[in-house]
Amino acid sequence: MKSELRARLQGRFEPPGDKSIGHRLALLSAVATGRSRLEAFPPGQDCASTLGVLRALSVEISRDGEAVEIEGRGLLGLTAPETVLDCGNSGSTARMACGLLAGQAFTSRLSGDESLSRRPLDRVVVPLSRMGAAIETTGGFLPMTIAGRKLRGIDYELPMASAQVKTAVLFAGLYAEGVTRVKEPVASRNHTELALLAFGASPVIRPGEIEIRGGSSLSPGRFRIPGDFSSAAFFIGAAAFLAGSELVVDNVGLNPTRAAFLEALKAMGADIEVEAAPSAPTAEEPQGRVVVRGRELEGVEIPREKIPALIDELPILAVVAAFASGTTRVEGASELRVKESDRLSAIVEGLRALGAEVTEYEDGFEIRGAGRGGALRPARLRSFGDHRMVMAWAVAALGVDGECAIDHLDQVKISYPGFWQTLDRLVC
Ligand code: S3P
Repeated sequence: MKSELRARLQGRFEPPGDKSIGHRLALLSAVATGRSRLEAFPPGQDCASTLGVLRALSVEISRDGEAVEIEGRGLLGLTAPETVLDCGNSGSTARMACGLLAGQAFTSRLSGDESLSRRPLDRVVVPLSRMGAAIETTGGFLPMTIAGRKLRGIDYELPMASAQVKTAVLFAGLYAEGVTRVKEPVASRNHTELALLAFGASPVIRPGEIEIRGGSSLSPGRFRIPGDFSSAAFFIGAAAFLAGSELVVDNVGLNPTRAAFLEALKAMGADIEVEAAPSAPTAEEPQGRVVVRGRELEGVEIPREKIPALIDELPILAVVAAFASGTTRVEGASELRVKESDRLSAIVEGLRALGAEVTEYEDGFEIRGAGRGGALRPARLRSFGDHRMVMAWAVAALGVDGECAIDHLDQVKISYPGFWQTLDRLVC
């Protein structure tokens, strides 16, 4: 792609509906009793994979533009699929669906694309098996078979901060006899807890611990999904370091368990104003407007306990850090190695190709930023087929003088099909 010297972003936009929230609301709608309506449903392929899986389980779903209506079949109303459930590229689909399938009275088989088939499943197999599910994987990976069983509640302490695993266990907890309790050492995104409340499941939420009692039915709802903070982050990050930028992001999700990237940018000296909307449009999910103006940024040390709240933003944070002055350090982020690609090595390879000084750690990186004076150079940037790497490199390309080559441009379809159009419109 072509980039121009001193590109900047000008204008306003609204990101697509939040992918994390979309998966959860779709899955819970499918097992609620009655019809739910999800407005601003995420347009990307990942949430389409979740809808595809639900259709294969006999859930009636209609989609009219950005609105999706789901005819919930009740907790035990799903039916045995006639095909393998294809989760595509979506780790959330595979792991969260396991939670609902573990308690059904039938057997399902799940598959995924090449990237998803390399991502670990033991993290969900271990707790769900303890609850009584019978699960077979292919050496810890997809394809997998889940034979639904009567489940029992467990106390489970998450060995890693993973909202997907927390969700799988809590979803299985809806089917279990007694109480299921999940403890998390470090808080991960809480969309599942908020969604469970919205569907009337009465989870008990305490700091570091969530409890759910099995057996009660879920009530359907009508929701408007806030804009995806993780999608907006590429533009927020770009506008923060590209001098002369002025960007307004409307209706973006601001859940504090997701939006720590804003705090990181502020700690780097970014000019950011946040205006929270007075009421949450869906499932108590906070949202609002973010205004960003470009300026020279400084490096930052990210506290480990903040990592889960900006885990998907680390690729764009790394790009911003490469253009800041001073050192940025991230540690405690080994989960990045098992995302859609090994994002740690993808980040390090790409930033080095751009001429940035980077040290790779097993669980993070240190970037000595080039600052305004120290120019980075154009490069070939490999995305490893990972949507978030493509978008992070697109932003990096805006900051260098000359042409960068990025592969798999089309992968933005996973989370943000309109990414290139929005970028074209905002760059000047
Ligand atoms: C997600 C949780 C995170 C995140 C992923 C979406 C979710 O994964 O990286 O993009 O919606 O719960 P982990 O649960 O594996 O940390």
